Amino acid sequence: PEESSVGPDGVLQIGGAPVTELAQRFGTPLYVYDETGLRRQIRRFVDGLRERWPNSEVLFASKSFPAVGMYRLAQEEGLSVDIAGGGELRLALAAGVDPARLHFHGNAKSDAELSMALAAGVDTIIVDNEDELDRLERLLERPQKLLLRVIPGVEAKTHASQATGGLDSKFGLPMDQARRAIERMRAHPLMEFEGVHLHIGSQILDTAQFAEAVAKISSAGSFSSYDVGGGLGVKYTYDEVAPGVDEYLDAIVTAAKAHLPEGARLLIEPGRSIVARAGVTLYEVTTVKRTGRVFVAVNGGLADQLDAALTGQRFEAVLGNRVLDPWTETAQLVGRQCESGDLLVDQAPLPAARVGDLAVLATTGAYGYTLANNYNGALKPAIVFVRNGEARLVVRRETYDDLLSTHAPAIEG
Ligand code: LLP
Repeated sequence: PEESSVGPDGVLQIGGAPVTELAQRFGTPLYVYDETGLRRQIRRFVDGLRERWPNSEVLFASKSFPAVGMYRLAQEEGLSVDIAGGGELRLALAAGVDPARLHFHGNAKSDAELSMALAAGVDTIIVDNEDELDRLERLLERPQKLLLRVIPGVEAKTHASQATGGLDSKFGLPMDQARRAIERMRAHPLMEFEGVHLHIGSQILDTAQFAEAVAKISSAGSFSSYDVGGGLGVKYTYDEVAPGVDEYLDAIVTAAKAHLPEGARLLIEPGRSIVARAGVTLYEVTTVKRTGRVFVAVNGGLADQLDAALTGQRFEAVLGNRVLDPWTETAQLVGRQCESGDLLVDQAPLPAARVGDLAVLATTGAYGYTLANNYNGALKPAIVFVRNGEARLVVRRETYDDLLSTHAPAIEG
């Protein structure tokens, strides 16, 4: 992350705190966020979009890092929030996020979730389909702002599991069906139809694809609001090149100026590009095996970094307790879950690793905690935010009691 540095002792510091001290105090695996860098990145989006297109709003796609402490920080820095489901709604409300800043997503919202969102007074519901309109017709008692998710027909150049804008997407309606849904909303006395939403996918590194999506969405009609989703990719590995926030904003605002009605409201929903680079994960090396290859195994893995298996995401790693030691071997940095796909770094250049070293996996601030699971009975890690050398616990580590608490006999009586 931006606020990382190396002390004279060769120990990596995040937000001014040595990683060895963080590991000692909070244990490992540990998600660590550099709060200063996180806030700075948010301002790049909020200020950058406002300067270019004043009638605009940046929504934090909270699925990328749904921690109460993050919702609170997002609101403090002027972000609105995209929630997708009752759980994210509860987390956002618990963090004190103003419901007028909440935008409710999802392709299969239930009656119960819609009722919760309506009772909370969320600003906008992003309608995905006509079944959802049936539900809303039954549930609405007051006027409600709505956007409609449309499929732009842009095949994002990214991992198949991260592409959502192609014509066979499960999200939203194709343009022809969208017209009928829009007529329905316009005809209903309590539905305040504002405009359309699209999201073409995640980890997209070519900004021309966002411009293409903006151009396509304009063909849906002339509305007062356009939400063009998230998806800006980030640099994960040394050899990857990713566009910066300014380059991304230039691309979508240039396209908006060319294609959208002047004065329309423009919304974007970045998730990954806000939080990914502010976060690292600390692991302890538990096993070093030199067979044909060098395997360095850590005390976490796909249970806390599922994207390694889900999308084949690869990361970069250093030994945080001795960053200045020269690289002497190329290792497979693997996790401890019982899956061959549990590979965090393929061919990591490292100093000869030893048991007890602290492996630091970079750029893990997005979707790591989100996708954390209990594979092999793993306990979900704690999260700390660090600023000016001060660390604060944002989410505590799960315990074995937490693990057992949902099972009979613990739930009986
Ligand atoms: N808006 C909507 C409607 C979305 O579905 C998403 C992400 C975003 C915004 C934010 O996209 P971002 O800026 O974070 O790329 N598990 C996958 C990522 C799934 C993304 C889901 N939707 C992965 O970690 O690669």
